[in-house]
Amino acid sequence: MEHDADDKAHFDPGQQPARLDECRRCPLWARATQAVGGEGPKHAPVMLVGEQPGDQEDRHGKPFVGPAGALLDDALKEAGIDRHDVYITNAVKHFKWEPRGKRRMHKSPAQREFEACRYWLERELAREQPRVVVALGATALKALLEQPGARLNAAFGKTIEHEGLKVIATWHPSYVLRAPDPQTRERARGELIDALRRAGRLANR
Ligand code: URA
Repeated sequence: MEHDADDKAHFDPGQQPARLDECRRCPLWARATQAVGGEGPKHAPVMLVGEQPGDQEDRHGKPFVGPAGALLDDALKEAGIDRHDVYITNAVKHFKWEPRGKRRMHKSPAQREFEACRYWLERELAREQPRVVVALGATALKALLEQPGARLNAAFGKTIEHEGLKVIATWHPSYVLRAPDPQTRERARGELIDALRRAGRLANR
């Protein structure tokens, strides 16, 4: 099996760790400050799944506390949902990055990395038993559906049933932040809010 040149750290894909901070199932642990697990009230009816912690999340040990988190908080508010009422997590629990000058630049997780990390997502799904899961972006969708070829565009506007889960897919908040022009940004932001509102309604049915 091939691995990134910078991924020389010891890892064991077959490891079955009891604790997230012991995880060595992929090499990403070695360059991250810490693993970032999900947070939210027990058995929250809605679970949001992002891609992976970013720079701020890696430093603070909490999901969605950086710029993408601020956008997500506003979108939740507009959808009539309190952040404290939902469970928020990521498909991958360690920050994957590469140095660019003094900055740590986000690098998308590889398939083998989100597959290794499904071990943790499965535990969160089994423990929290959400009524609806929102996939924020393509990596979350692929991890949730266990389909590396899953496409965000094809899933848009649908409620996908997968192994007893109801999955709604929408844009990742970072996509909204990085949109190339104001119209695209506003449209994507509106679609993110719509998807969150739909998840809230479905969960309360
Ligand atoms: N992006 C994510 O996907 N998750 C976070 O927690 C932060 C940024």
